[in-house]
Amino acid sequence: MLIQSPKLINKNQSRIVKQWFSQINRNLTNNATDSVRIVEVGPRDGLQNEKEIVPTDVKLDFISRLAGSGLSHVEATSFVSPKWVPQMGDHKEILAGVMKLPYTSVSYPVLVPNIKGFQSALSLGVKEIAIFGAASESFSRKNINCSIADSLKRFSDVMEAAKNNNVKVRGYVSCVVGCPYEGPIKPEKVAEVAAEMYSMGCYEISLGDTIGVGTPGSFRQMLAAVQQAVPVQNLAVHCHDTYGQALANILASLELGVRVVDASTAGLGGCPYAKGASGNVATEDVVYMLHGLGMKTGVDLNKVAEAGKFISDQLGRQTMSKVGRALQAKK
Ligand code: HMG
Ligand code: MG
Repeated sequence: MLIQSPKLINKNQSRIVKQWFSQINRNLTNNATDSVRIVEVGPRDGLQNEKEIVPTDVKLDFISRLAGSGLSHVEATSFVSPKWVPQMGDHKEILAGVMKLPYTSVSYPVLVPNIKGFQSALSLGVKEIAIFGAASESFSRKNINCSIADSLKRFSDVMEAAKNNNVKVRGYVSCVVGCPYEGPIKPEKVAEVAAEMYSMGCYEISLGDTIGVGTPGSFRQMLAAVQQAVPVQNLAVHCHDTYGQALANILASLELGVRVVDASTAGLGGCPYAKGASGNVATEDVVYMLHGLGMKTGVDLNKVAEAGKFISDQLGRQTMSKVGRALQAKK
């Protein structure tokens, strides 16, 4: 896929924009990097905000369908306090259940906020965890009840324990373009927190637009700053779709070389401590767009759409994925 640069009046501007577009086209057509890894967050981010407790066996059925659709990473649950997020209160049963699934090449990371959560997940044989910080001081306090500095100290304890037990660690940075309490967030702050978590040993940093306020413009600025601190091949984007910008933001991130995208089947999602955060970008929609760009995902679109229909039926509502709805309408 090639993008044409627009015609500009000024010669100098034209040269700069042409260079920029040819860089984008190099990034989109580089065969060595034309596959994208999708990190499915539906069973965790997708369900954590649901008021009614979803039965454990329904969650496990959902995870099994997702793993069977070709997704290599399915974030399964959170080892957080059940007082803070009641929906994730069955985390032990979920982790024990996913360890028995036949899809042994699939990774099932779980969220861990502190050493207590780590020890609990480790006792069940966890292989991969995700620690989650923020670029906003206020969001950090609301979400995990501590400052950014204290969270990084907690994470380094978790990281040390994880290294000693050969557990892989992914890192999230929330509020990368905007915060529900502080408004716009400076790209430099995102870069600073991302760099800290990367240098601690996270193999990948997922940049979360927690309340979905980003646009391709703010994503480009943010990614330009973060790429100075963390190599682009170690970055992922995690887009909520509150303002309908998620696919555009993902496309802008792909243009800048990002090749890992978080998504949630059926477009479920939200954070209980981020008012206004609506669903994540739907996995079905991301897969459809990536395949349309000629990029490989390893994901069977029909199977993931079936998983989306399954969980939406269980929740008693229509899928929020536009692709999911279109595929259902064709039947
Ligand atoms: P705290 O109240 O400061 O913790 O919460 P504490 O150490 O004072 O302990 C209080 C109680 O929690 C104690 O129990 C602990 O045992 C228990 P009690 O003595 O009262 O019976 N506790 C735990 N229980 C189970 N597992 C644990 C654990 N730790 C303590 N790991 C804490 C601090 C971090 C625990 C709390 O704030 C918390 O659980 N927060 C999680 C919030 C959350 O899950 N938010 C959503 C995920 S983040 C997100 O969605 C964003 C993301 O998607 C990216 C994006 O979109 O930007 C990742
Ligand atoms: Mg999220």
